Amino acid sequence: MVDSFDAATPLATQLDEELRLARELRGVRFESPAQTRVITVSNQKGGVGKTTTAVNVAAALASGGLKVLLVDNDPQGNASTALGIEHHSGTPSVYDVIVNETPLSEIVRPCPDVDNLYCAPATIDLSGAEIELVSMVARETRLKTAIDNYVAASDYDYVLIDCPPSLGLLTINAFVAAREVLIPIQCEYYALEGLSQLLKNVNLIRAHLNGDLHVSTILLTMYDKRTNLSQQVADDVRAHFPEQTLRTPIPRSVRISEAPSFGQTVITYDRNSAGSLAYRSAAREIAERGAKENGNG
Ligand SMILES: Nc1ncnc2c1ncn2[C@@H]1O[C@H](COP(=O)(O)OP(=O)(O)OP(=O)(O)O)[C@@H](O)[C@H]1O
Ligand SMILES: [Mg+2]
Repeated sequence: MVDSFDAATPLATQLDEELRLARELRGVRFESPAQTRVITVSNQKGGVGKTTTAVNVAAALASGGLKVLLVDNDPQGNASTALGIEHHSGTPSVYDVIVNETPLSEIVRPCPDVDNLYCAPATIDLSGAEIELVSMVARETRLKTAIDNYVAASDYDYVLIDCPPSLGLLTINAFVAAREVLIPIQCEYYALEGLSQLLKNVNLIRAHLNGDLHVSTILLTMYDKRTNLSQQVADDVRAHFPEQTLRTPIPRSVRISEAPSFGQTVITYDRNSAGSLAYRSAAREIAERGAKENGNG
């Protein structure tokens, strides 16, 4: 096999590319934004890579030296699992923050494998919050109040919020708490379907509840450069959202999908795998944009 290795084959090109990126990203430190950036990772479509994106971008930013909080705002608790954070029913969690007004400082835990990365875990209890919230005062702003109070007394660079695949009160709380929306788009069938609904919802929130909210970032996920379909979806998304779409797509990768079963992000599980490099590169783009905003004022 090695004898017949041909530098012109796509595999060899890909390995070269990965090696180059690994060198380029080695030891890179990201610049802090002027203010804490609060970003919600949202898409009401299920299984598009929201949680995978939230945990891996968070871990990549932290491994670039920034202090990062990941708020798991999904009763499934997948982000908590991926960060190796305990979240059985009854664990102090985002449920307590939203429903009982427990301060975030009482529930936030450090991620065992990544320095500077912290997690506000979600438990299955959070599934009841959607209903409990309906009759509560300030039901749309409870997460915002908690995050604002916590961030004011700490030195976080980034707060990322992982949302459930629905537009209930939990997602609305995330839209009100954040300034920015990061939308992962899966490079497969019907990717753009539902996107206009999502954008309408963001506009509604901006009009009524949070004038600062905007879609700052779109990330193409589960990209397979060998298929025309992936290419088409990517071209379409870039044509519609040239400013927001990150240059780096996230490839389909087995390493990415198996990392959570080890309670890890792909950044710690296999740091120089293609999937990890892609998330580190995407995180670098996100951080560079934040730093540019510093320059503008
Ligand atoms: N780049 C990738 N390569 C391979 N598998 C991936 C990739 N990104 C995500 N996956 C897998 O796809 C599935 C869905 O991903 P994920 O849980 O991140 O989506 P989600 O949008 O958070 O889902 P939900 O809507 O249920 O919250 C998971 O099994 C995950 O491991
Ligand atoms: Mg999820």
